[in-house]
Amino acid sequence: MFVGIAVHERLCWGALYLLAAGLVLTSETRRPCPHSCRCNTSVLELNCSYGQLTTVPDGLPQDTKLLNLTHNIIKTLVRQQFQTLTHLLDLDLSDNILVIIEVEAFFGLQSLLTLRLARNHLKIIPVGAFAGLTKLQLLDISDNKILVFLDFTFRDLAALQFIKAAENDLVFISHQAFTGLTSLQELHLDACNLTAVPTEALTQLSGLRSLHFHQLGLNSLPNYSFRHLARLKELFISHCPWLETLSGNSLFGLNLTSLTIIHCNLSDVPYIPLHHLVYLVYLDLSFNPITYIHGILLGDLLRLQELHLVGGSLLRIELGAFKGLARFRLLNVSRNLLTTLETGVFHSVDTLESLGLDNNPLACDCRLLWVVHRRLYLDFGGYPPTCTTSAQLQGWDFLDFSEAELPALLTCRQPRILNRQPQEVRVDQGHTVVFYCNTEGDPLPSVTWLNPQLRPLSPIGRIRVLSNGSLEVRYAQPQDSGKYLCVASNAAGNDSVPVSLHVRRFPSSSKNPFRLKSWFAFPSASPGVNGPQKLPFDVKTLLIAATIGFTSFFSSVSVCFIFMLFWSKSKGQIKHTATIAYVPRSTMSSNGGTGNSTETSRFTMKLI
Ligand SMILES: *[C@@H]1O[C@H](CO)[C@@H](O)[C@H](O)[C@H]1NC(C)=O
Ligand SMILES: *[C@@H]1O[C@H](CO)[C@@H](O)[C@H](O)[C@H]1NC(C)=O
Ligand SMILES: *[C@@H]1O[C@H](CO)[C@@H](O)[C@H](O)[C@H]1NC(C)=O
Ligand SMILES: *[C@@H]1O[C@H](CO)[C@@H](O)[C@H](O)[C@H]1NC(C)=O
Ligand SMILES: *[C@@H]1O[C@H](CO)[C@@H](O)[C@H](O)[C@H]1NC(C)=O
Ligand SMILES: *[C@@H]1O[C@H](CO)[C@@H](O)[C@H](O)[C@H]1NC(C)=O
Ligand SMILES: *[C@@H]1O[C@H](CO)[C@@H](O)[C@H](O)[C@H]1NC(C)=O
Ligand SMILES: *[C@@H]1O[C@H](CO)[C@@H](O)[C@H](O)[C@H]1NC(C)=O
Repeated sequence: MFVGIAVHERLCWGALYLLAAGLVLTSETRRPCPHSCRCNTSVLELNCSYGQLTTVPDGLPQDTKLLNLTHNIIKTLVRQQFQTLTHLLDLDLSDNILVIIEVEAFFGLQSLLTLRLARNHLKIIPVGAFAGLTKLQLLDISDNKILVFLDFTFRDLAALQFIKAAENDLVFISHQAFTGLTSLQELHLDACNLTAVPTEALTQLSGLRSLHFHQLGLNSLPNYSFRHLARLKELFISHCPWLETLSGNSLFGLNLTSLTIIHCNLSDVPYIPLHHLVYLVYLDLSFNPITYIHGILLGDLLRLQELHLVGGSLLRIELGAFKGLARFRLLNVSRNLLTTLETGVFHSVDTLESLGLDNNPLACDCRLLWVVHRRLYLDFGGYPPTCTTSAQLQGWDFLDFSEAELPALLTCRQPRILNRQPQEVRVDQGHTVVFYCNTEGDPLPSVTWLNPQLRPLSPIGRIRVLSNGSLEVRYAQPQDSGKYLCVASNAAGNDSVPVSLHVRRFPSSSKNPFRLKSWFAFPSASPGVNGPQKLPFDVKTLLIAATIGFTSFFSSVSVCFIFMLFWSKSKGQIKHTATIAYVPRSTMSSNGGTGNSTETSRFTMKLI
């Protein structure tokens, strides 16, 4: 019984052995493995890597599916040498010294899906080289020395989906170069020395979904650079040290979901070129010298979820910067120059999941309390923010403190306006008044001035807010009279102080009252808070001048000039011009209360 089984088993094994031997024999007779190659019959792979081959070996088994010819010293691909390999799916010729590819070199490879020619010495690809590759899906010609893509180079590759052409020296892409690439989805033109976007050539690629550029030699992306790429979803531009601006319509025609422009020289977020990209989800502007993200201007990007601006020069993200972005969930602004990040920049801080804020000179005050309160839910990407400006908290990161002690450490001081004594100024029409508003608080409060109608005043116009927080009313008019309000506010609150201005009208008979400003006229009439100073020239003088008429007034002035010219010449001080400023009557009365629209008229008299 046992013996019987053993014999039976032996027979079985013997039969199996014979069968296996026979299989090996038949496959070996059918598929001689070429010298310097290793054959893997199960997957029909031929590995001829590192075989010192100078040409493609002859007599390759016809049913080969994968052919690896990498790391050889093949210099030339001659015509139709792969003709018999009709089942080949993958051909890898990377890391050779290919210089010449003849026309129809790949002819016959009717099943080929992948062709790799990376890291060779190709300078040019002749038209027709890819003839016959009707099923090819991926072509890798990166890291060669290709200078130009000629017209119709890829015309036979109707099934091609990916081209990797990174690390070439491309300087020109001919207009019809991409003709025929109807299935192309992804194009990498990294590290090219192109000095223009190949707009014409790209118009052929109507199915393109992802476009990568590296090292474009441009300083501005021109209008309509990517027109006809309506299906493009992902645009990636990097390492363009000269690229400073995107023209207003440069991204016109695109409907992107992802835009990356990194390691370039943009100094501002390209709000206008971006604003029509309402499907944009991902925006990366890292490593650009961008200093501000302004309020509201990104509001059109309704679906934006991620903004990356790592390694920039950001000084401030203005309140309302991400207003309208209801799906915003990641902000990465690590390695910038931000002193704070207020909740007011977000549409809603509740949607935020990830925050990169490390490596910024953060002022640790109450403005960052929200980060602390959310520190357990926020993903800091492994780098929590740290305090750098507070001696007490120096070097500590936000995870080091307990919930209880933080509010006492991250504090702000409410603003206080220092000069609180009532400021009441009475001036005659035409004078200039400056009101001061000195403040203190932590963080330093921002100062706004409201006019008697409680509208904020701007830094331009006749009535304007100076950069040091003072309010200047030039050539005061009766209708400027009223109560102005200085408001100082910071994250901790606000403080306000009213001042009042009363402007006395000229007697009604006067026309264009003059105020002469220059070396010979009044000293600057800025009465300041303590009321008008006495002027050396009485305003009445001007009234007289106005009433006696212009002609005679000017002639008197001219006589005066001439006199003074001689006088100053004799003293060696020569001044050739005099500026005369005046406020015409008509504009005074039409000037409403706000008064910051009228500019004074001026003219300059030239002395000999
Ligand atoms: C091909 O052969 C080379 C050299 O022997 C070896 O390093 C490489 O791993 C092989 N490739 C495959 C896919 O087997
Ligand atoms: C392309 O740019 C690289 C780096 O700037 C340079 O070394 C190379 O010479 C350029 N090639 C051509 C063809 O201009
Ligand atoms: C980047 O832009 C700045 C001005 O915005 C300019 O001074 C600088 O030279 C530019 N850098 C390069 C590499 O062009
Ligand atoms: C680009 O288009 C914008 C908006 O139409 C226009 O203002 C700008 O002048 C154009 N720029 C160029 C270089 O044509
Ligand atoms: C833009 O792309 C989105 C999806 O990415 C798509 O839903 C929308 O229809 C596209 N709009 C146009 C005008 O093609
Ligand atoms: C921000 O970007 C830096 C650099 O790419 C990365 O190390 C960090 O993890 C990112 N932070 C977040 C929150 O994604
Ligand atoms: C603010 O600037 C104006 C003009 O530059 C000057 O007249 C005024 O004295 C300044 N105010 C303060 C408080 O320094
Ligand atoms: C000043 O603070 C009060 C509450 O303290 C607030 O109601 C008011 O709106 C604030 N005013 C301004 C101009 O911020």
